[in-house]
Amino acid sequence: MRKNIVAGNWKMHKNHTETLALLEDIIAQKQETATEIVVAPTFVNLKAAVDQVTGKNITVAAQNMHQAEGGAFTGEIAASMLTDIGVQTVILGHSERRAYFHETDALLASKVDTALKHEMRVIFCFGEELKDRQKNNHFNIVEYQLRDALFHLKKEDWKSIILAYEPVWAIGTGETASPEQAQEMHQFIRELIAKVYGTEVADNVSILYGGSVKPDNAKEIFSKPDVDGGLIGGASLKAADFLAIVNAF
Ligand code: 13P
Repeated sequence: MRKNIVAGNWKMHKNHTETLALLEDIIAQKQETATEIVVAPTFVNLKAAVDQVTGKNITVAAQNMHQAEGGAFTGEIAASMLTDIGVQTVILGHSERRAYFHETDALLASKVDTALKHEMRVIFCFGEELKDRQKNNHFNIVEYQLRDALFHLKKEDWKSIILAYEPVWAIGTGETASPEQAQEMHQFIRELIAKVYGTEVADNVSILYGGSVKPDNAKEIFSKPDVDGGLIGGASLKAADFLAIVNAF
């Protein structure tokens, strides 16, 4: 059965001191659900975060990684460097990586392959822009993002894939997809995966929603049958808000 997961994408926020303080605050909050908690601090703070959450119900994820095994790629981080410090989960395909760092679905397919080769779990992000939704093209866009980056995978690879539908128009804007819009897209995604990989894969993959999830809207979004959790930006930077979202299931 698929898992409920709430992941905090800290983006380029929180220095070392602040990272430790925020984690301490998160650990001090009371978790009332069996939801898996994931936090994704910046690269320089990953090792400290791993050390701090050891023995707790919190997983540390990286926000990106390079597709090569290693080599002359100044400024980049390899999968083996992440796993060596205990990071087994990586976020790939975030819309900010796509928009500002020109990541394409073809590039993301090779990043996914490298992550899986290193037995990492991938939180794969995708979602349409406002112009796509206005043209009623959002289902097509999402279908092609998934096909081009993930549908070369084998059935068994899907054990390591978590999907995160993040409509670009809802990220950091305060504008959330309505629970009905989220459900409609998540159901479309699950049906698409069922067509290609069968119902067992489709029923077991967790599909998270991301885009302006807050304590006051999380419960309604998470109540939808095909929404298995959230990928949270802004509201993950305050421990009380983040845990209120975790506890919204
Ligand atoms: P916000 O929750 O700040 O809209 O960000 C969502 C997001 O991009 C998570 O990856």
